[in-house]
Amino acid sequence: HSLSVTDYLRQHIRTVPDWPAPGVQFRDITPLLQDPKVFRVMIDAFVHRYMDRAMRPDVVAGLDARGFILGAVVAYELNVGFVPIRKKGKLPFTTVEETYELEYGSATVELHADAVKPGDRVLLIDDLIATGGTMMAGKKLLEKLGTTVMEGAAIVDLPELGGSARLRASGLPLYTLVDFS
Ligand code: PRP
Ligand code: ADE
Repeated sequence: HSLSVTDYLRQHIRTVPDWPAPGVQFRDITPLLQDPKVFRVMIDAFVHRYMDRAMRPDVVAGLDARGFILGAVVAYELNVGFVPIRKKGKLPFTTVEETYELEYGSATVELHADAVKPGDRVLLIDDLIATGGTMMAGKKLLEKLGTTVMEGAAIVDLPELGGSARLRASGLPLYTLVDFS
């Protein structure tokens, strides 16, 4: 009815305090996938934006692991291919890789070297932007292969962690559906 899409989706994201560590408010998107009506509203928000002629990507790249769930569905609906950006050690063929800093330690993500072509316009999707490190690493990988990341998209932004501001400052446009401050 009169609820905005943002408020409707926000109501279906579960906050779990102190998980996986004390002080973290974990924003759990699984309830939003579980309800077919909510799942469709969420997917349609992305599909509507990227169906537009000027916004249509050549390929959708999804970030391991929750970015695969929505990235694959959005790609299917747009009738474009889907490529997974995986945590290190999972992809069998020749890869490019990018290491980035986490709060403690570091992580490496990989992409198959033939997954995208130079000049492709790529839509990069994940479920959530926190520090932005994961999405920034994905962008760098895609750029190593000569593509242009036209936009980063996520269900949730946690703006207080500064990730979305950093990503935008790096020149990556972002589209997110729900903010939690
Ligand atoms: C979460 C989330 C994003 C990332 C966001 O993934 O799904 O990918 O963290 O954090 P950042 O903006 O600080 O990089 P996680 O590493 O928990 O992995 P998972 O998807 O396999 O659960
Ligand atoms: N990934 C990083 N921070 C997160 C949070 N607060 N909730 C869900 N996923 C996350």
